[in-house]
Amino acid sequence: GAAGLADSYGRTATDLRVSLTDRCNLRCTYCMPAEGLDWLPKPELLTDDEINRLITIGVTRLGIEQIRFTGGEPLLRRGFPGIIAAATALAPRPHTAVTTNGIGLARMAPALAESGLDRVNVSLDTLRPETFEAMARRRRLTDVLDGMAGAAAAGLTPVKVNAVLMRGVNDAEAPDLLRYCLDHGYELRFIEQMPLDAQHGWRRENMITADEILDRLGAEFTLEAADADTRGSAPAELFHVDGGPATVGVIGSVTRPFCGACDRVRLTADGQIRNCLFAREESDLRGPMRDGATDAELADRWRAAVASKLPGHGINDPSFLQPARPMSAIGG
Ligand code: GTP
Ligand code: 5AD
Ligand code: SF4
Repeated sequence: GAAGLADSYGRTATDLRVSLTDRCNLRCTYCMPAEGLDWLPKPELLTDDEINRLITIGVTRLGIEQIRFTGGEPLLRRGFPGIIAAATALAPRPHTAVTTNGIGLARMAPALAESGLDRVNVSLDTLRPETFEAMARRRRLTDVLDGMAGAAAAGLTPVKVNAVLMRGVNDAEAPDLLRYCLDHGYELRFIEQMPLDAQHGWRRENMITADEILDRLGAEFTLEAADADTRGSAPAELFHVDGGPATVGVIGSVTRPFCGACDRVRLTADGQIRNCLFAREESDLRGPMRDGATDAELADRWRAAVASKLPGHGINDPSFLQPARPMSAIGG
């Protein structure tokens, strides 16, 4: 609507991605170094009440319809169930989801569902314990698999699974991952690796592209493009597998960008509005909020922030520069 979060390219942000922490209990090589990062100091993090207030403004004044909680690892935030409960008590009730690495999910899934969480996306790059340890630098594969099963059992469905393929590490496993997800009723999506790692180690030639992923899967499965009309703003392009209703997705952020249909806006754990994973600017809401700004003033700032959203991520431009903040501090 007229009061919503419109940009100057005809897009409206209705999907809010809220990062609850920049910390994580894994150390995936495509994301952060083995020693971790300099985590945000506690005073800079939004409190639960501050997060709830900004979500309320987004939903009741700015047309936010969907909220996805991200990290770092969002399940590490103690107040998470309360934040979900506050969000889902709003009218209109937003749709809620979380993107998690799955650790602790088996234990927490019933309480999260009870709080009003609708569904989960879990990151799973491999089914082999040794490969998991090589990629995530922790021995937690079983926790992740249990987490996915626990989420499904708690009704947090559809359970979607995100896999990042790395050349020579887990790329040969793509068909095995798909078979596992088909067997368990999970919706698998393969993600092109993006230049968002803290170490700035991304190289285009190492990226497994959407075309490559589809070629590899095509050798073992029949893939048929799902109706393109139903994609909307979704990052994933879906394909029906072996004629069935089950699908596999490809998220080709780099070679098949989907910025033209983007409906996302991000709130970082330290209270900054970010229009894009690759934005070079952020708009501070925490400072004004702590200085006594009213809801109407915060909503105005938020609208102005989204109005300046750029048309796309620019990864393929010769002048592309990786953003200063890594993915774990932005929220995926
Ligand atoms: P649903 O399909 O609605 O479940 O959500 P989603 O795929 O948007 O969420 P998820 O957090 O699981 O993201 C999956 C992958 O898509 C991650 O690697 C994200 O970083 C990537 N992704 C999500 N949103 C964007 C975006 O706005 N731009 C780009 N380039 N990638 C995104
Ligand atoms: N490129 C693509 N996807 C990434 N993720 C984390 N870092 C990257 C990256 N550099 C994925 C995680 C998770 C989702 C939030 O983003 O594996 O599934
Ligand atoms: Fe939206 Fe930026 Fe993602 Fe493109 S890269 S889809 S503009 S958030």
